[in-house]
Amino acid sequence: MPTPNPAALDFLLSRRSRPAKTLGLPVPDSDALRPLLAAATRVPDHGKLEPWRLIVLERAALVRLAGLVAEAGARLGKSPEDIAKAETQFADAHLAVAVIESPKPSDKIPAIEQTYSAACVCLSLLNAALAAGWGANWLSGWPSHDRGFAQTALGLTEHERIAGFLHIGTEGAAPPERPRPDIDTITTWISE
Ligand SMILES: Cc1cc2nc3c(=O)[nH]c(=O)nc-3n(C[C@H](O)[C@H](O)[C@H](O)COP(=O)(O)O)c2cc1C
Repeated sequence: MPTPNPAALDFLLSRRSRPAKTLGLPVPDSDALRPLLAAATRVPDHGKLEPWRLIVLERAALVRLAGLVAEAGARLGKSPEDIAKAETQFADAHLAVAVIESPKPSDKIPAIEQTYSAACVCLSLLNAALAAGWGANWLSGWPSHDRGFAQTALGLTEHERIAGFLHIGTEGAAPPERPRPDIDTITTWISE
């Protein structure tokens, strides 16, 4: 018989993100954050390539990133509303971890599998933060897909991408539950 871990299963069946705009102080300090980063990188990784890395963005760094959004937005022809929303995402945050997809050359492991592994890091960090009692939210936003912003703001190399910004903090208000997928609709059982 399998050995159940009901607490872990209960967590997975009830977990939900907390909108970044509802997150405030306090945020985890480096001692509290380290085990969450360790949990985040304990993910499936075909070929043990470690095709990801982490950048911890503290308050001053987030303010600096907010200040780089306008230039990227003007270059990309973004509306004032889109620029203001992206600025606010950084300017209002107190802590975020950028998960960087950093693919490694491999004859055996396709690039898409390295992308999937980076997404696993994002979800694991989100879940680790939630399990530790923090509020957390996986955000992207248009700047995260702009190579110029990624290079200027975070020093990414040509082959790297931002997989996500994981905002972590103390939740101000618990969000309502949202509709979840109907398993019978999305699942096909093949028995022969
Ligand atoms: C790759 C990725 C990028 C996302 N970017 C954003 C974003 O920029 N803004 C936003 O409001 N939600 C974004 N979301 C959705 C939030 O993470 C949302 O809170 C989440 O879907 C809630 O799911 P949960 O409650 O099951 O954790 C993104 C989700 C993913 C997977």
